[in-house]
Amino acid sequence: MSYDRNTRTFDCDPTLTDSQVLEFCRTGYLILEGVVDDETNQRTLAYVNGDLPANPSYIPEGLTEADLDRMRESREPSSIILEDWFAEHVLMNGEVAGALKSLLGRNVGLPVLMSKHTVETPYAGQTWHNDADSVFGPELNFLEAFYFPQDTPVEMGPTEVVSGSHIGPSQRDEDEAGIFTAGPAGTVVIHHQSILHRRGKSTVKGLRHMLKYNYWRTVPPERDWIVEPTFDPHTADYGGHFVARYVAHMYYWLCGKGNEFRTIGGQAWPWQNENQIGPSYGFGSAEGYLPDWRKTNTDGYSR
Ligand SMILES: [Fe+2]
Repeated sequence: MSYDRNTRTFDCDPTLTDSQVLEFCRTGYLILEGVVDDETNQRTLAYVNGDLPANPSYIPEGLTEADLDRMRESREPSSIILEDWFAEHVLMNGEVAGALKSLLGRNVGLPVLMSKHTVETPYAGQTWHNDADSVFGPELNFLEAFYFPQDTPVEMGPTEVVSGSHIGPSQRDEDEAGIFTAGPAGTVVIHHQSILHRRGKSTVKGLRHMLKYNYWRTVPPERDWIVEPTFDPHTADYGGHFVARYVAHMYYWLCGKGNEFRTIGGQAWPWQNENQIGPSYGFGSAEGYLPDWRKTNTDGYSR
């Protein structure tokens, strides 16, 4: 692990394989259960509760100690990013960092903002939503992380996400459940910021803290995760008819080949069926179509 304080970036070895990167393209999230050690979880709780003296590793230019104190009291205690123990054991935690390196490339940019979502439970759940500023496209220029410093079983209302919903706007019945990002203390959830989600309904008495922050890409994408010799992009599983073109486009973009991606439609690549007697036609076609990510444009961005 190397950390550059001047650029506030880190680099390390990747931990995800081709199959795992493609899995992320399909689902849009990755749950790393209990990866942060208990001492750090306790320190984090003490910090957000105001029980631990602040000890920033440096004061960023343009800010004062008073600014950091004010931040710490707010809903955005970003001063915690400057604590060495938090940076080392949470932000650049080995398993988290390896996954980030795999998805965002080298020199991953550390967060500049920390959001604190504290809920006294029991508490009502949220309705399904995409966060403001969601943007749908093949690019993966940043990732959002949730960190739960205390045990957060389903009864404590962890965030629910909908697998695969990061590829476009969607509606969902409030009665329909999603995937609960439940886990023991120290669980970190990495996800595509555009994924459909809601705070889960909590049913037991307690205090649920969750910290939310973004990591940033600083270099163009290339296939610098763990390359699997047997992984074949021609026969890989990109999902069904309605999603395969988006998932494959995202995988190609991550490989640095987003501009080469074309599909000819129908039953052609990237779609395939398990009962085919040969690989799908259309792989590697120089002409064809791009998935229409912008069709409804409900996210408020345009090309
Ligand atoms: Fe949200």
